[in-house]
Amino acid sequence: MSSSRGIYLDHAASSPVLPTVAELLFRLYLGQLGNSASLHRAGVGAATELEKARDELGKVLGASPDEIHFTSGATESNNIVLASALRSGLELGRDELIISRIEHASVLEAARASSAVVRYLDVDKHGHISPKQLHELLGKKTALVSVLHANNETGTLQDLTAIGNLCRQSGALFHSDGAQALGKVPLNLGQTPLDFYTFSGHKIHGPKGIGGLYVRTGVSLGPLFFGGRQENGLRPGTVPVELAVAMAAAAQAFTVESRDYLANLKHQLRAALRASFPTLRLNGDATQSLPNILNFALPGHTARPLLQALDARGIRASAGSACQSGKTSPSHVLLALGLSEAQALEAIRVSWGIDTTAQEIDAFVLALKTILQASQTEA
Ligand SMILES: Cc1ncc(COP(=O)(O)O)c(C=O)c1O
Repeated sequence: MSSSRGIYLDHAASSPVLPTVAELLFRLYLGQLGNSASLHRAGVGAATELEKARDELGKVLGASPDEIHFTSGATESNNIVLASALRSGLELGRDELIISRIEHASVLEAARASSAVVRYLDVDKHGHISPKQLHELLGKKTALVSVLHANNETGTLQDLTAIGNLCRQSGALFHSDGAQALGKVPLNLGQTPLDFYTFSGHKIHGPKGIGGLYVRTGVSLGPLFFGGRQENGLRPGTVPVELAVAMAAAAQAFTVESRDYLANLKHQLRAALRASFPTLRLNGDATQSLPNILNFALPGHTARPLLQALDARGIRASAGSACQSGKTSPSHVLLALGLSEAQALEAIRVSWGIDTTAQEIDAFVLALKTILQASQTEA
């Protein structure tokens, strides 16, 4: 989206609310919805809107509405699963967690903070975990396996069916963090062997502060904190109905056509970068990856000064996950892929949305070329 904010190519950090979703939110706030737990008409009206949003999200995820729970975002959903699945596991003598080395901080840190024995899955140079290693690590002590669906830095997709089948065979629960994947890839959780799936509003052109958690019917999960019986007892607290409705509307904006559109932008970007920078290095997987993230490096050029120069020209891109952008340490994800520290510090992540135009992609590549030419002239 090009505006006074410039060209925004950091959708993996947060994707701007679509105008139609913003208008919907505005109408909802003016409509004075009550508390969805109240029995009067304002409450019943809110509950009706909330259940409609749950239905809509259920359809998007291929799940039944009562498998969908609203939370404040993906961080909270991940924390609920890790803490609660471990609690249930401990009752069965299972005290081990298996997670990949390339999880988002909200899984890595929740695992570290838990009392579980944490086992880590390595990834290959494209960012895929190895089913063979998972098979070796799985055992009678495994309570939960958590492997993110699409990585937030490289976009690499994992094979949820292969992972889930292995978990089923060993009796372990399986969670996937789908914060980046929802909307960008076809999904049918009803036909996927997993128990929990995390998602977030602001990664799909919806508002910040709302997310969700799919919990397969029949799998019990307790709350992270305690209070009322909202969200089937899983997530106490008054549900922000307006945000939930807006997230459901945003999720429905992702169609087969919009996925094709995102993929075409990726082809365009990759081709333009290759044509402009013969030494270009791509990080991640070329085929099994999201259609809206490209992670690349220009060898010999650290990302940070390039990103600052792009920012000065009104183009917003990123060096890695947003949580890491404040510090210059190399990304744990890229190191896990086998990159050296210096190579990891060269990585630029570009991510776009359904409101990004082909002209903006071209403008990005042209700006990068101009910046590099200027720096070579100065040197
Ligand atoms: C893969 C992944 N998981 C979790 C999160 C956290 O999401 P939220 O901001 O909704 O808590 C993010 C956001 O960067 C993410 O990319």
